[in-house]
Amino acid sequence: MDFDVIVIGSGPGGYIAAIRCAQLGMKTAIIEKYSALGGTCLNVGCIPSKALLDSSEHYYNAAHSFAQHGISIKDMQLDFGQMIKRKEEVVGQMTKGVEFLMNKNKITTYIGFGSFVDKNTVKVKSNDGQEQQISAKNIIIATGSKPSSFPSMPIDKKRVISSTEALKLPEVPKHLIVIGAGVIGAELGSVYARLGAKVSFVEFAASMIPTMDGTMGKELQKSMRKLGADFYFSHKVTSVENKGDSVVVRAENNKGGLLELEGDYCLVSVGRRPYTDGLELEKAGLKTDERGRIAVNDHLQTEVSNIYAIGDVIRGAMLAHKAEEEGVFVAETIAGQHPHINYLLIPGVVYTWPEVAAVGYTEEELKTNGTPYKAGTFPFKALGRARASMDTDGLVKVLAHAETDEILGVHMIGARVADMIAEAVVAMEFRAAAEDVGIMSHAHPTYTEAFKEACLAATGNRALNI
Ligand code: FAD
Ligand code: NAI
Repeated sequence: MDFDVIVIGSGPGGYIAAIRCAQLGMKTAIIEKYSALGGTCLNVGCIPSKALLDSSEHYYNAAHSFAQHGISIKDMQLDFGQMIKRKEEVVGQMTKGVEFLMNKNKITTYIGFGSFVDKNTVKVKSNDGQEQQISAKNIIIATGSKPSSFPSMPIDKKRVISSTEALKLPEVPKHLIVIGAGVIGAELGSVYARLGAKVSFVEFAASMIPTMDGTMGKELQKSMRKLGADFYFSHKVTSVENKGDSVVVRAENNKGGLLELEGDYCLVSVGRRPYTDGLELEKAGLKTDERGRIAVNDHLQTEVSNIYAIGDVIRGAMLAHKAEEEGVFVAETIAGQHPHINYLLIPGVVYTWPEVAAVGYTEEELKTNGTPYKAGTFPFKALGRARASMDTDGLVKVLAHAETDEILGVHMIGARVADMIAEAVVAMEFRAAAEDVGIMSHAHPTYTEAFKEACLAATGNRALNI
């Protein structure tokens, strides 16, 4: 065998798995079809979207709230080209960073398309058409996901676009129609709404971010309305038509009402599908399930015991940090260790402003499961820190067991909650009661006081500042 481990795909799942394998003394190779390492997350996902979210938030604040802070800017202008250029620079720094880490850990990198020859051998076809075969005792599939769509909304990458094109548009749309008000729709819709686009959401479900706790969707919608966004919930898209320099979206609501919207771009953000195209899984004795995912057991092992799969290509949340945890998990499993992942405590974050962050059970899930619970909430507007920064939108909601007081779920919307949710993860990992957090000192004035106060509210309605 040429290697102990071959990793196919260099996203956050694959590159982290490769590093951990190398740390554990395994001779490791990684295969990536694109010349830049880092996968969806670094190239066309987490990092570029956050770069544009940060830039557009600066622009929006400069235009709308600097004056209240006593800062006046004359002749402020948007240089959208520079915004895109800066985003590309950030991506470049990050992907070069992964390259550095591969070299530092003595991981052999193959740039080319990987496909199975048999359960221990992978063929790598490089862009210039050259082919070579490499073999390993173990193979980790980390080939990620691609945007999905429906026949009624074919993505042409010009007017009807996925998130990938939305990260590099040549101009700010005048009217962006977003199909799907999930995470991508909320984030990229925010970017363009802040830059002055009219944004209309057409969503199948009855609220924004419908898989999160219901309170979050309602609160996020209020904030997005302030950016001028329109919402068409409970609508099924029937057709999307590229008319050259415009796009027409037709939909039908659940009462049979018809909707027709005309915009200059239509972002299709209705989910992502696992990506295994061209992998020739069958040559290794593998197949995908009815949703295109690679089936794995609790050890993330496929039905062929030396082949593992991680990240977006398997079941579970399609999140970079979930893929990373699984990368470490598989490397340690191959090394004979007994790692553990607590899937309930993988946080989810939406990087709008205010941000949304959550961990554990939603209120809807607790109701469905019949778990006795109590809820405590605390609004951002009652925080000194939020008043000082004028970030008063949002709240923290803590769900605790009605009898034991153990925290079962934490749902936050507000300034910097993407960072604040880590405290809730720690508390829940150590199975804290709401009262435990309520009696811990939190620096004043900080946004984190909202979590303490919500915990106090859940513990016999003891919040202090409301
Ligand atoms: P990927 O990152 O998709 O990487 C798979 C890699 O495998 C790719 O580089 C691909 O080219 C390569 N590959 C595939 N097949 C082959 C083959 N046959 N041979 C060689 N190489 C191959 N998640 C978060 O947690 N936080 C966020 O803020 C966030 N923001 C996002 C924003 C957007 C716009 C999008 C689209 C996604 C975002 N995500 C975010 C999701 C996140 O990007 C994914 O969950 C994550 O990248 C999955 O990692 P992965 O390693 O499983 O796969
Ligand atoms: P999503 O699953 O978050 O949202 C898709 C939305 O589209 C849902 O609200 C769904 O009800 C709606 N929808 C589905 N079919 C529809 C139809 N025919 N018509 C209208 N609406 C329809 O998926 P999204 O936003 O595409 O993101 C894909 C993945 O990427 C997510 O799983 C997410 O985890 C990941 N991601 C994570 C981010 C983060 O962690 N901050 C940011 C962006 C993406």
